[in-house]
Amino acid sequence: MKKQELLAVAKKHGTPLFVLDHSVIRANYRAFKRHLPRVQCYYAVKANSNQEIIRTLFREGSSFDVASYNEFMQVYEYLRGMRKREKDWYIWDQIIFSNTIKDRQTLARIRQYRPLVTYDNADEVRKIKAHCDSAGLVLRLKVPDTGSQVEMSSKFGCEPGDAMGLVDAAFAAGLTVEGLSFHVGSQCTNFDNYAAALAITAELFHAARKKGYPLNLIDIGGGFPVPYDAQSPRFERLARLLNREFARLFPDDIEILAEPGRFMVATAATLVSEIIGKARRDGKVFYHINDGVYHTFSGVVYDHWVPTFAAFRRGPAEVCAVVGPTCDSFDKITLSANLPGNLQIGDCLITENIGAYSTASSTRFNGFEGAKIIHKR
Ligand SMILES: Cc1ncc(COP(=O)(O)O)c(C=O)c1O
Repeated sequence: MKKQELLAVAKKHGTPLFVLDHSVIRANYRAFKRHLPRVQCYYAVKANSNQEIIRTLFREGSSFDVASYNEFMQVYEYLRGMRKREKDWYIWDQIIFSNTIKDRQTLARIRQYRPLVTYDNADEVRKIKAHCDSAGLVLRLKVPDTGSQVEMSSKFGCEPGDAMGLVDAAFAAGLTVEGLSFHVGSQCTNFDNYAAALAITAELFHAARKKGYPLNLIDIGGGFPVPYDAQSPRFERLARLLNREFARLFPDDIEILAEPGRFMVATAATLVSEIIGKARRDGKVFYHINDGVYHTFSGVVYDHWVPTFAAFRRGPAEVCAVVGPTCDSFDKITLSANLPGNLQIGDCLITENIGAYSTASSTRFNGFEGAKIIHKR
């Protein structure tokens, strides 16, 4: 949307306003499929769990990566009209529970659906056996995540050295391991991580098959980088590397899954916020706006994200702070935004590429509701 158009929409709906453009989501999904034709795309609902996004991607033919029972039910919403066989097939083939730790109640509730679930430790094998023995298992490996915006490997994934023991343990328990997964960290700009992860996965995959285990899929997780700035490496280059490594390391007949979250939605949303206060503190202009780190800018905290701001009014730029509306000094979005120093209360700011890990983790702290979401089809 052009700046003036955004301003007009913000005047109509009020601010803060989160404008979600579904044509961008569709374009991102199609680009992903075009560049990675062998890969089945499971949208990671956690990146933005807005129901309308799930609907758009469902209609595009996407599969889904869910982390909780509630996220599962958000996808299940679109399966209600299906016949049982079709529904069972969809859940088995198009949904993965990618959270390696699931509580017993969740496992018991999803048992009826024969779900595909990840795991990375022996206790989880016992828990799955006891509460969800219909599940197919995917073992998540710990892989390098050096330089990724959000690192994952300190919390998830088994050491490659322990992996075969965990495959053995699952089969010994009477469960089936369908394949192996990893996540190289979110907003992965160091593509060596993917190359290393695929090499680790391939070694284990072939060793397991040699032992007679019928592994038939790999899941390469998320991490696909978004072009937040000119320095971000291009997805197309990553796709070429991945396609080459798939062909070199794996048989043609296996399934390859991916769980892109950020890639699908980050560039699809723009936030219009409004300056509600202005003060000079230690010589620096502080713009207090009506959205902050407890709300749509929650990615600053949870996602290590560095947002940018653009103004409608022109003026000589200087280094300014942009802070949120709550009565908490932690609510600082940035201390170094390059903005005109002459902005006034009532002026609006624009933040692009704010579709991922933003509204998804927004709270209602201090009584502020967060941004209104509007959809552009
Ligand atoms: C298991 C899993 N899969 C996929 C994703 C999505 O990752 P990204 O947004 O980097 O594509 C995440 C993000 O936290 C995750 O934990």
